[in-house]
Amino acid sequence: MTRRRAPDAPRFEDLLAQRLTRRQVLQAGAAIAGSALLASPDVMASRSPQQLGFKPIRGTKADAIVLPPGYTHDLVIRWGESLSSSVPDLDASKLNAGVLLEPKAAEQQRSQFGQNCDAIHFFPLNGRSDHGVLCANNEYTDDGLMFPDNPGLRGIRNAATRAYVKRHPQVVAVTKAAQGVSIVEVERTRGRWQFVKDSKYNRRITADTPINIGGPARGAALMKTKDDPAGQRAFGTFANCAGGETPWGTYLTAEENIQDYFANLDRLKARNDVDPFIVDAHRRFRMWSAQSLYNWDVADSRFDLAVTPTEPFRFGWIVEIDPLDPTSTPVKRTALGRFAHEGASPVIARNGRVAVYMGDDDKFEYVYKFISNGRFEPKNRQANRTLLEQGTLHVARFDASGKGQWLPLVFDPKGPLNAAAGFRDQADVLIKARMAAYLLGATPMDRPEDVEANPTTGRIYIACTRNESRTVESGATTYGGREIDTAPNAANPRGANNFGHIIEITEAGDDHTSLEFSWEVFLLAGDPSGDRLITDLSQVKADSAYYAGYANAADLSPIGSPDNIGFDRIGNLWIVTDGAQPDAGNNGCFVTPTSGPDRGRLRQFMSGPVGCEVCGCQFSPDDETLFISIQHPGEGGSTADPRSHWPDGGHSQPRASVIAIRKEGGGPVGS
Ligand code: FEO
Ligand code: CA
Ligand code: CA
Ligand code: CA
Repeated sequence: MTRRRAPDAPRFEDLLAQRLTRRQVLQAGAAIAGSALLASPDVMASRSPQQLGFKPIRGTKADAIVLPPGYTHDLVIRWGESLSSSVPDLDASKLNAGVLLEPKAAEQQRSQFGQNCDAIHFFPLNGRSDHGVLCANNEYTDDGLMFPDNPGLRGIRNAATRAYVKRHPQVVAVTKAAQGVSIVEVERTRGRWQFVKDSKYNRRITADTPINIGGPARGAALMKTKDDPAGQRAFGTFANCAGGETPWGTYLTAEENIQDYFANLDRLKARNDVDPFIVDAHRRFRMWSAQSLYNWDVADSRFDLAVTPTEPFRFGWIVEIDPLDPTSTPVKRTALGRFAHEGASPVIARNGRVAVYMGDDDKFEYVYKFISNGRFEPKNRQANRTLLEQGTLHVARFDASGKGQWLPLVFDPKGPLNAAAGFRDQADVLIKARMAAYLLGATPMDRPEDVEANPTTGRIYIACTRNESRTVESGATTYGGREIDTAPNAANPRGANNFGHIIEITEAGDDHTSLEFSWEVFLLAGDPSGDRLITDLSQVKADSAYYAGYANAADLSPIGSPDNIGFDRIGNLWIVTDGAQPDAGNNGCFVTPTSGPDRGRLRQFMSGPVGCEVCGCQFSPDDETLFISIQHPGEGGSTADPRSHWPDGGHSQPRASVIAIRKEGGGPVGS
């Protein structure tokens, strides 16, 4: 890798000084959006955004859910609990004895709650806050925590994990069944949340479930395989990270790190009968040159690029699921583009069109917005079910002036996305959205994870989790199949960015269909103690922390690696983390007001067990329950040597689970 500093490149300190002016202007008056998403005036009148009365906790390494005094949690469902009384629960005490290698394990897992829950969304039944349907993503498996003597993710580099899968190919069926989505009815009875076994809503969607392909890429040449010669039906969904919910009550699940499932890019390259454009597209998605992370190709040739070169094009989409109709077939909404989707947050714009905000979670990837052609019909749910079929995908360019542009990803023989650039039609543009975004000059970000709209202001928040490869100086390098400059830019101002940051977007005219916006650094995560807390972004250093200009460090909690985010009804921003914390504590949940004098006053609300990532961050409609996913507790351990015993304690195996946090005696969470 060569390192250079372009002589004519603006210094990022200068760019940040321009940004400061923008911040001061914004602080002079809060923008009010006209979005249909806004909370009703009575909600605003009854609670102020500063109403966060809990006593903050400190970071901790405790192998437990730690909450402020006066708060409690219920364990809603664990990995392996059966959704049906006709199928037994997983006996986790037998994991180290090989219970998941027994003949019926995969079949049973297809009826049990999946592994490593990530996003969760709550769909109320009859408008109730104590009864609904929960959709949970089951993102991935760490096989070392499931099978005895399986090195899991730790054995990838020395091929030991692959050798294990070859000895026990049934691992593939079990782990395919443990991923995807779990849909389960939940209810609060006698004060405690629990799931409803045998509910008509209970459903598993796995890496083999038939899923329709919708939108402009349906039937495209690149979508066809020998198992689906029409290119209209994919098999399964996996790597489901964050998600979203539509205003018409459907669930959006985001297919993220799909590159880790496909093996043998080198062998595909060696074939002389394959369109080189397919190889380029896989390189842009950083497919594995030989074995893959999960080794599914050992038992299923769909995951061998040399055998099924186009199979990866059928993944990396947003998938829409109707949680209230367990017989419905989910649909991959290809109009929303193909990349490592973290989540999808829809907003109804004033003109009735739907804007869907999305992040692509890889280093130096982009932020996107889809705008539907059709308009939301509040009283016609069925009509809304096709709103995500047609529209225009855009990608964000963040300018140093504090303004930005949404750039349309549209095939046009006379535009930049044409045949000379390698695109034959709009399906090509969507399938290779990352390539198209790069050609349009989108701003490479520090791993955009969850993107959410504030329900009280309409402003958009983007969690950029971190980027250790962001360098202080300019540096041209090849990453993800194209050359980029790894230097900081105004919207990604730190090199290296070890703790991540959050960007705030205000759409021009508070119109979510606008193609222009203004933006602000809202948070530079880190340790705000000592002289690290800055209120002037022109002073940023690698270890600086910036909390939306909030100046009293004694009020603030350290935070690192923001990932999923969520809002309560009064516009407080809730953040859960996935990565090293500045105080060396476990991952947790944090909250900050986004307006008023406490804007940026971020405090820690919860800490998760050892080795976990905290995900989800979803409120019941009355704000009295906060649903959280605890993903991969005990990461780095094994079935013989568990590093966490959460949730069951003693000598038990760790199990990813969904919890529901409540205030004892009732009241909004955080109040
Ligand atoms: Fe699956 Fe981007 O976290
Ligand atoms: Ca995530
Ligand atoms: Ca979210
Ligand atoms: Ca993450």
